[in-house]
Amino acid sequence: MENKAVIITGASSGLGAEFAKQFAKRKFDIVLTARSENKLKELAQQLESSYGIKAYTVPLDLSQSGSAMKLYETVASLGVTADILINNAGFGLFGEFEETEMQKELDMIEVNITALTELTKYFGKDMVSRKSGKILNVASTAAFQPGPLMAVYYATKAYVLSLSEALANEWEGNGVKVAALCPGATETGFSSTAELSQSKLFQSGVMKADEVVEQAVNSLLETNKTVIIPGFKNKMLASSVRFMPRKMVPSIVRKVQERI
Ligand SMILES: NC(=O)c1ccc[n+]([C@@H]2O[C@H](COP(=O)([O-])OP(=O)(O)OC[C@H]3O[C@@H](n4cnc5c(N)ncnc54)[C@H](OP(=O)(O)O)[C@@H]3O)[C@@H](O)[C@H]2O)c1
Repeated sequence: MENKAVIITGASSGLGAEFAKQFAKRKFDIVLTARSENKLKELAQQLESSYGIKAYTVPLDLSQSGSAMKLYETVASLGVTADILINNAGFGLFGEFEETEMQKELDMIEVNITALTELTKYFGKDMVSRKSGKILNVASTAAFQPGPLMAVYYATKAYVLSLSEALANEWEGNGVKVAALCPGATETGFSSTAELSQSKLFQSGVMKADEVVEQAVNSLLETNKTVIIPGFKNKMLASSVRFMPRKMVPSIVRKVQERI
């Protein structure tokens, strides 16, 4: 019998590389994509030799228009059926809105929102026709409230959560599961890319990438949860926001976000 296959964006490091390892361990074939071609090739070789699965690499910059369609077409030309899509690629940027670089923020919207939406549409349509498939969109605990000093990033993740919950409802009867993963601060390359390593949030304790991914994969494969929040502290933080006066929330988030 053929292995099932999973497509993972942002697979060159952090959570994406960990998703690749944990799905390979479960005997899934893997399509890995990100910009760093050498890292992808190294990981693919390691997964093939350790787990006896097939691992394909598709180097792409998802901030470029047309790249999501290119990924979809490449997967088809490889003869791979996407049983699972993990929309994980994403990045953040710290700073006051009037100071942060416009192009970086537009690229962030392309990767975190536009490419994720396109991939969900292309692969999701096929899943709906087959009446089978799963899509996990990586949002964040940032999705639950506005985030001063990372305003655009928090807004992109609110979009990812909202889109995922809506599609989970639309596709409920179609055999297609959609879920949003909402990790809190996690030890990956994210904090240095976002220039966040010195923020109180990242200094106050982070989860390990393997723990976050293990909870995510178990939940995706074995439960019907639409919103997956790894870790007790993150679950508490995400739900506590609902009980605070909305006006107070941005100033609390700002305090946590500021550098020490
Ligand atoms: N770590 C955290 O604290 C945390 C918390 C909540 C949510 N998240 C979310 O988790 C996801 C994974 O991030 P991570 O923590 O694993 O950080 P990471 O180690 O920096 O990984 C980010 C991944 O996204 C890829 N990527 C970035 N820009 C890209 C582009 N233009 N085109 C294609 N791929 C691109 C990177 O690959 P290349 O550089 O090779 O392109 C890399 O594989 C992101 O969506 C992030 O927002 C992270």
